[in-house]
Amino acid sequence: MVEAAAILADGGLVAFPTETVYGLGADARNDKAVAHIFAVKNRPQFNPLIVHVENLDTAAEYAEFDNRARTLAEKYWPGPLTMVLPRRADCGLSLLVSAGLDTVALRVPAHTAAQALLAGFAGPISAPSANASGAVSPTRAEHVAQSLGDKVDLIIDAGPCSIGLESTVLDLSGESPCVLRHGAVTLEDLNAEFGPVADATADPAGPVKSPGMLARHYATRLPLRLDAMSAAPDEAYLAFGDPVPTDSTAIENLSSAGDLTEAAANLFAMLRTLDRPQFRAIAVAPIPDQGLGRAINDRLRRAATPG
Ligand code: TXA
Ligand code: MG
Repeated sequence: MVEAAAILADGGLVAFPTETVYGLGADARNDKAVAHIFAVKNRPQFNPLIVHVENLDTAAEYAEFDNRARTLAEKYWPGPLTMVLPRRADCGLSLLVSAGLDTVALRVPAHTAAQALLAGFAGPISAPSANASGAVSPTRAEHVAQSLGDKVDLIIDAGPCSIGLESTVLDLSGESPCVLRHGAVTLEDLNAEFGPVADATADPAGPVKSPGMLARHYATRLPLRLDAMSAAPDEAYLAFGDPVPTDSTAIENLSSAGDLTEAAANLFAMLRTLDRPQFRAIAVAPIPDQGLGRAINDRLRRAATPG
């Protein structure tokens, strides 16, 4: 665990067991490490990730807990329940773990190896299931090795996961609770707590709450002009690689070296920096549509979709 914690502190990736499935963990405060998760999973989209913490007290450093969230945490943590809650402004978490949203998904895993890793690292660990995009979630260390192999710095092997199904995801960021994903904490359990709870998975045609599926997900206030080969004086400019000569007075470069992992790590913070009312639009340089570039372009297109 000492080695695993050191790898995380160094910005590396550690696959670790939880009672649900194996997770692909990184320091949730480190943009570059979180971007690396998406690169390794080869995920074409930035879905927000679950942040794993030791207990309710640490969780409360990162998100706003109301009475509902506290009650559920006391009842089901540690365990297979993830709660989506408003991010605290001072939380220090990477914007990428929330995919630019104002909420964060938090979970306290019960598995002793996960708990030992969290205690050793003494920080928040963002972790999606430790499989390549599109593959089934891993419930044994060998599944992780088969799917991700040498792309992970360390795989902690603690045998098969006892539940073998991802955690229940409950959105408590709005007025009424809403289940975003079913898991071992059941709809019946939640109904017993709150009365009938909305189920976003029940009606695929209904209002989809899982942000990965939303067309307009993270939107800037300014319109985005994509694939911009130039930027006007009244446009902010988001560059990639060699910046074009421009009269823009606000320029951020996602990666002057043209590195897509660095670009992903910078994306949400730079969009926020440039989203200022004195400009007419944000001109965005073309991003290569390969590797992490696909996820970056997916997110830029969604942000550019007029609401
Ligand atoms: O059992 C689990 O939950 C495993 C283990 C490793 O903890 N993790 C896992 O993570 O399944 P992942 O990234 O594969 O699934 C996270 C789910 C996604 O459906 C995502 O859309 C949702 O949680 N989610 C995360 N943050 C969210 C947010 N801020 N708002 C809405 N949904 C969110
Ligand atoms: Mg998954």
